[in-house]
Amino acid sequence: MAEPVSSSFDFTAYLAKARKRVEVALDAALGPEKPNQLREAMRYSLLAGGKRLRPILCLAACELTGENSDHAISTAVAIEMIHTMSLIHDDLPAMDNDDLRRGRPTNHKVYGDALAILAGDALLTRAFEMVALRSPNVPVDRLLKVVGELSLVAGAPGLVGGQVEDLHCEGKEVDLDTLEFIHTHKTGALLKASVVCGAFIGGAKEELISALRIYAKGIGLAFQIVDDILDVTASSEVLGKTAGKDLIADKTTYPKLLGLDESRKRARELIGNSKKAIEPWKNKAAPLIALADYIIDRDR
Ligand code: FPP
Ligand code: MG
Repeated sequence: MAEPVSSSFDFTAYLAKARKRVEVALDAALGPEKPNQLREAMRYSLLAGGKRLRPILCLAACELTGENSDHAISTAVAIEMIHTMSLIHDDLPAMDNDDLRRGRPTNHKVYGDALAILAGDALLTRAFEMVALRSPNVPVDRLLKVVGELSLVAGAPGLVGGQVEDLHCEGKEVDLDTLEFIHTHKTGALLKASVVCGAFIGGAKEELISALRIYAKGIGLAFQIVDDILDVTASSEVLGKTAGKDLIADKTTYPKLLGLDESRKRARELIGNSKKAIEPWKNKAAPLIALADYIIDRDR
């Protein structure tokens, strides 16, 4: 085990403060949308709590560049909007057909399929509005990079592609390469973009961007491996979503292919490599290093 970069860093306090900051910004990002039921459906899922890991990673990456992370708050919100819309759509009957998310009934269970689809669409488009039109004091070339990165990871080369492969592989024999494709696209891509976009907003140089891409690739895959593990080992109450769903839907997962111990080992290795990639930035990297540990130690 590597020595912690900064033993004085209070991660619990950092996480609590960052979550609060994100919650306030998310609330403020949704205006008086009309009609009312659209506003309610958007707010229902966006403000339902959650770990807020992606926006916090975005802010932490911006901080690492030395830039004031207030400049990254709209991008952080945008990323959580994209994440939330992907979960609304993922839970639909045509996809995973889930009825529990973040400890409450899924969006379509409350508002119906049509409104759930449209609330997701509205969150996705609002995300790009947040970056393009609601990011004051950020140079346009940085915003353009963020828009480019987010359009790639949300679309066919990222979440959509990963989700299509995931659905296509249900009930089929899947090898490790295919599973890794699904995980890195469906989940890893947006986690990676969270980090990279925070660094773009901070105007990071290529050396840091490259290190952060390595960091983020590792945590992205590790995150989904841990998700697979928790699906087997945790309860619905703790997870806030239906536990054991992968087995019911006959999805291939890391525990199914490698077993629980080997899956944990693989996730630990990935997190170790991620941390190593940003160690040269020493204490400035402490939040991202602690966030990497959190990804593997979390219970939900
Ligand atoms: C949850 O995975 C689902 C995702 C991480 C992404 C799903 C992606 C889409 C529905 C495409 C969204 C479209 C755009 C344009 C971004 P899971 O089912 O393994 O996890 P769960 O147990 O939390 O449901
Ligand atoms: Mg699902």
